Amino acid sequence: MNYIGSKHKLSSFIVSTIKSVVGDDLSNKIFCDIFAGTGIVGRNFKSEVKRVIANDCEYYSYVLNKNYIENHKEIKNKEEYIYKLNI
Ligand SMILES: C[S@@+](CC[C@H](N)C(=O)[O-])C[C@H]1O[C@@H](n2cnc3c(N)ncnc32)[C@H](O)[C@@H]1O
Repeated sequence: MNYIGSKHKLSSFIVSTIKSVVGDDLSNKIFCDIFAGTGIVGRNFKSEVKRVIANDCEYYSYVLNKNYIENHKEIKNKEEYIYKLNI
């Protein structure tokens, strides 16, 4: 999902700016995506940091971040889910 307030187009700028301050190794860092909206900022850091915390007062953001940020386990039995969706 993208909309006018999304920071998607600023992604590489945000990542490089933060790394220029805290360093390239983010593996022990906790990233807090305040006013997360679409969650794109936290998502850009998810694979590199120890943990992402996201907040937003809107339900749309809760739903998106529940999926993009909280969901971190590989889906096993993909075929089973695809089968159920196709019923
Ligand atoms: C510009 S948008 C989201 C930007 C986000 N970084 C992105 O790239 O999608 C700002 C967000 O701030 C949230 N927001 C505004 N006031 C807030 C508040 N007091 N507490 C929590 N979230 C708030 C809005 O719901 C909105 O999703």
